[in-house]
Parts: sequence; structure tokens; C-alpha cells
Amino acid sequence: MPATAPRRVLLDTDPGIDDALAILLALASPEITLTALTVVHGNCPLSEAVANALALLELGGATQIPVAVGCAAPLLRPPFTATETHGLSGLGYARLPAATIAPVAEHGVDLLIRELLAAPGQISLVAVGPLTNLALALRKEPQIVAAIGELIIMGAAFQADGNTTPLAEFNIYADPHAAKIVFDAGLAPTIVPWDITREIRLGRHDIDRLLQRGGPIAEFIAEATRFYIEFHLKQFGYAGCAINDPAALALVYWPHLARTTQAYIDVEISSELTMGKTIADFQGLTGKHPNAQIVTHFDGEGFVAHFVERMEQLIDRLA
Ligand code: BDR
Ligand code: CA
Repeated sequence: MPATAPRRVLLDTDPGIDDALAILLALASPEITLTALTVVHGNCPLSEAVANALALLELGGATQIPVAVGCAAPLLRPPFTATETHGLSGLGYARLPAATIAPVAEHGVDLLIRELLAAPGQISLVAVGPLTNLALALRKEPQIVAAIGELIIMGAAFQADGNTTPLAEFNIYADPHAAKIVFDAGLAPTIVPWDITREIRLGRHDIDRLLQRGGPIAEFIAEATRFYIEFHLKQFGYAGCAINDPAALALVYWPHLARTTQAYIDVEISSELTMGKTIADFQGLTGKHPNAQIVTHFDGEGFVAHFVERMEQLIDRLA
């Protein structure tokens, strides 16, 4: 157990297979407590994402954690999903029993604002979906800027091609205007871009190791990632899957996994051709003050080993 009090985390998420793995990692990690999940449109339509969030908390024995329903659509653009990556339900081939718990009545945007203002500096906000909820929270209550203890975002592609358009990464492409609001808010987020997370790969041998443990969590991970691995094989030519969102979550309690570089970042919101492309001014050419910490190196191997161990611990704890 950690020597210090667990860090409080708000996870803004669009589950989503790797979101699901991030939720399970949060439940498996004694260094953090999940204050709430706020759900946003993204990998699948919002209704599926909410159902998945609830079912995952039930699977992980954490039904006490509130789930708040956030925004169903981007700020300006039409909804855009990633069903080819995550399946129609958002969880690949996995079929979880419908949850017996329900979302709280409070809107996700209002929950974010309330929790952040109630605990200034104490909450790590980890955003692993399109940034619509956070952008609206910033517009509704700008005082949250001072209250956010730490903001970690999985998204963007600075030194790599996109995974959604030739230039844009999914979370940013799915709501580029929201990303613009968040980047310009003065929050100095840590950005874990797809350049980095695409190299953090869970393999079939990792899944087999979990399956040896047995139980519903291992089965869930195997069935969800079976779809995700098929997608990676077809799209990227390797038999594994990038665990983007868990890597971002882990930085809350294990920042030494990453090396970061400060830079000014911005996002394209005008050109349809390059919409959602994120740009980092690593050379200081714009003369603009850095507004983000960008992860440029990450101990992917160390993290994957850690992730598998944490899943084994969670499986054992719930057996
Ligand atoms: C991001 O987009 C989604 O498909 C994943 O859940 C992750 O948050 C990776 O580009
Ligand atoms: Ca996600």
C-alpha cells in the first residue's frame, strides 16, 4: 500500500476498449481513488459508453463510484465514433451483463465543476476521450482552471501520423474545437500523445497469462482485446494492441514512466483536410509560451509488465 494518501482521480472517458482497461487499472491501483467517471461521446455513442462504464464498475466490484453522463456530441462537428476499432458496443467481442447500478442525476460537466471546486489542487483529472466535457466545464466555470491539481490528457499526434485521418488522432479529431478550448485554457496539461502510446503494446502472451488466472475480468479482457488485436493486425500489421488510456492513467501515480518536454501546442480547426491535426512548437519558432508538457519518452515495456501484474492482482482480489 502507498505511504501517502491515495490521489483522487476524476476519469473523463468514452469506454472504449482501452478506456475499459484504464478503468480496471484505476480500480487495481491502491495509489489512487476514483472519485467518479464522467462519460463522453467518442469511441461509441454516449448511451453505449455509459452502459459500458456502469458494467465495468460492476465487473470491478466498485459500484460505489459515481458515473455521470456527459456530452453526447462534439461542440460543433457531428458525432464521430470508432466502431471499427472498438466494435459496435465499444467493448469489442466482450459481452458484460447489464449493470444493476445507474448513473447519477448530475450532468458530467456539473460533476466535474463541483468536485474540482470542492477540492482545489487535490484532484488529478485524466481525460481519455474527446475533450467536450472538459471544454464545456471550462466555459461554464472558468474557476476550475485554478482548482485542477493536475490534468493528464491522452490524445494528439505530434511526431507521428494520425490514427483517424492521415494527420489527426481520434480524441482530438472527434472534437477539435473542444481541444482548442482546453489547450488555450492555461492548464499546462501533460499530453500523452499517440506517437508514444502506439508503441505501448499488450500482446497475446499477456492476455494468455491473465487467462491462466481465470475469472470474469480475465475473460472480459480477452474478449475485448481479441477484437482490438484483430483491428491492430489489420490496420497496423502487428498482433497486439496499443493500451493508450491506461498509460495516461498510470502517470498519476507513476510519473517516472515518462519524460516530458514543454512546448506550445495548437490544433487545426479550420481546414477540413487537416482538421484535428495537433502541432507542437518544439523549436520555439512561434515565440509562444509553452502551454503543455508533452510526453516524448515512455517506458512502455515496464508499463505493460506493471499493467499485467495489476490485472492479476485485481483478478485475485475479486476471486
Ligand atoms: C484514443 O482514441 C480512442 O480510440 C482510444 O480510446 C484512445 O483514447 C487513441 O487515439
Ligand atoms: Ca478513450
